[in-house]
Amino acid sequence: MDLEKNKIFAAVLVAGIAGYFFGFMSDVVFHETHAENAYHIEVAENLSSGAVVANQGPEPIAAYLAVADASKGESLARACAACHTFEKGGADGIGPHLWGVLNRDVASVGGFAYSDAMAAHEGSWTYDELNNFLYKPKAYIEGTKMNYIGLKDPEKRANVIAYLRSLSDNPAALPDVPPPAEEAVEGADEQLPVNEETPAPETVE
Ligand code: HEC
Repeated sequence: MDLEKNKIFAAVLVAGIAGYFFGFMSDVVFHETHAENAYHIEVAENLSSGAVVANQGPEPIAAYLAVADASKGESLARACAACHTFEKGGADGIGPHLWGVLNRDVASVGGFAYSDAMAAHEGSWTYDELNNFLYKPKAYIEGTKMNYIGLKDPEKRANVIAYLRSLSDNPAALPDVPPPAEEAVEGADEQLPVNEETPAPETVE
């Protein structure tokens, strides 16, 4: 008899918790518009729908760069200054000088002894390449001798990249910000009815 009551009580409790949790989750999904969280939700949706696991790399940087603050980046870049100089004509240290590094060919500072891994990396330091590398240097260029853990926070990474961009007589244009995901991603209509639940102020009595 008591056991039966306990079971019913437990069932009600579980239902209550589940209901609370769903309410909470829909709040998160519908009201959380911060870019980083939107990214994580997208990943979670891809996982739960059994689609190919989303790229675990960094968030695209263009939108963050559009609002980045190079002077904050300069402060953050003190962490780089143990190994790099930033001024024009600056010397190489443990790492190569970084004046003009944006769009500079990878591993192209004459006289600097790059690792084989870095020397073998093709291309130039575009915004995307810097974004990938600074997110997790040793994961992106396996075997690099740059002993730096990386910058996980996309805002901080964008600030540093904006600072690197400024290290030039003629800073390059910022990258174009791609259109919002709703237009770019197929089936995105399931994703983001942002604020649909919130009535417009004038309809509230
Ligand atoms: C502990 C020393 C150290 C720190 C800290 C460090 N780096 Fe480096 N960095 C290096 C070394 C060494 C290399 C050359 C890597 C290689 O050859 O594999 C390098 C290479 C680079 C390159 C490639 C340059 C080229 O000429 O191809 C970039 C870009 C770079 N670092 C940016 C940064 C930024 C930005 C920071 C701070 C957020 C930073 N590094 C922090 C040591 C460091």
